[in-house]
Amino acid sequence: MSSFSEQVESLKKSALEALNTASNLASLEEARVTWLGSNSQFNALLRQLGKLPAEERPTAGKVVNQAKAEVVGLMDGRKAELELKAAMPTEATDFTLPGRQNRFGGFHPLTQVTQDIIRIFRKLGFVVADGPEAEDEYHCFDALNTPADHPARDSQDTFFINGEPDAQGRDRLLRTHTSSVQIRVMEKQAPPVRIIVPGRVYRRDNADATHNPTFHQIEGLYVDKGVTVGDLKGTVEFVFKELLGEEVKVRFRPHYFSYTEPSYEIDFSTPLVKKMGKEWLEIAGCGMVHPSVFEQVGYDPEVWTGWAFGFGIERIAMIRYGINDIRLFYENDLRFLRQF
Ligand code: DAH
Repeated sequence: MSSFSEQVESLKKSALEALNTASNLASLEEARVTWLGSNSQFNALLRQLGKLPAEERPTAGKVVNQAKAEVVGLMDGRKAELELKAAMPTEATDFTLPGRQNRFGGFHPLTQVTQDIIRIFRKLGFVVADGPEAEDEYHCFDALNTPADHPARDSQDTFFINGEPDAQGRDRLLRTHTSSVQIRVMEKQAPPVRIIVPGRVYRRDNADATHNPTFHQIEGLYVDKGVTVGDLKGTVEFVFKELLGEEVKVRFRPHYFSYTEPSYEIDFSTPLVKKMGKEWLEIAGCGMVHPSVFEQVGYDPEVWTGWAFGFGIERIAMIRYGINDIRLFYENDLRFLRQF
């Protein structure tokens, strides 16, 4: 019996030592197979129990089982320890770094400005209208009183779409302004009209800090009885104070557009415009709708009056956010977009 207990004791010692020196999960598993597997010496000892004299068996069995339980206990402990070690980063880790954040998508700055402008005009009773980007010459130019020999139609300014002529057999084009939608709306709807038209326009410009071959405008059209330039000025001032703050200053300069008479360009001044090194920044064209435009769509110019405007959305976003290069809007660089 004593020799049996001694065998168990020495076996246990060796097993415990093997488990303690295993330095990773693979060598621990190897030790488990060697010391606790079916071919292990522990199992051999258990098998020997049967050969012992009957009165020694209970004690001997207890000794083996206790020893085995101790080895199994250490095995489990070491396993947990080595698993934890395996899960630890192997390189130096800076636990003071901020955690990873989930990022949510956001609206593009041009979309944000557009939505804000729409919200403000809605307060004034305007509704949003839209029209096609691939237009015909009639809606983009003729109906707006822009004669066929006007330089704005020149292929240097306008993208024509070859091979897809309109109903009159004339080349179609990419609209150079959202003013074409004024005509489309008035053709379909009797006055009064109060619409704004956000949309993309195209011009044959080379890209630089202030130009891009495609950009965005918001057109506005208000037609009713007795509408005046005073309404136009008041509306523009209200909208831009809402949008850019009370300190914004608005200036109307006489100008020429074929579809308005009188016509103006609108300049803005804000603290940010000044910071960008300018006193005034041109932002829009506007005017009182020309009688011949009304005639084109069948509105009686003796009864109806109206004003219209077209703003460049990029310009407004540039003033609002202090951006000095229009191309940043189209590059989709997340370092830029995440600022908004
Ligand atoms: N269409 C003009 C442009 O793209 C802007 C404009 C001027 C729109 C006067 C209008 C207007 O509706 O009345 O520069």
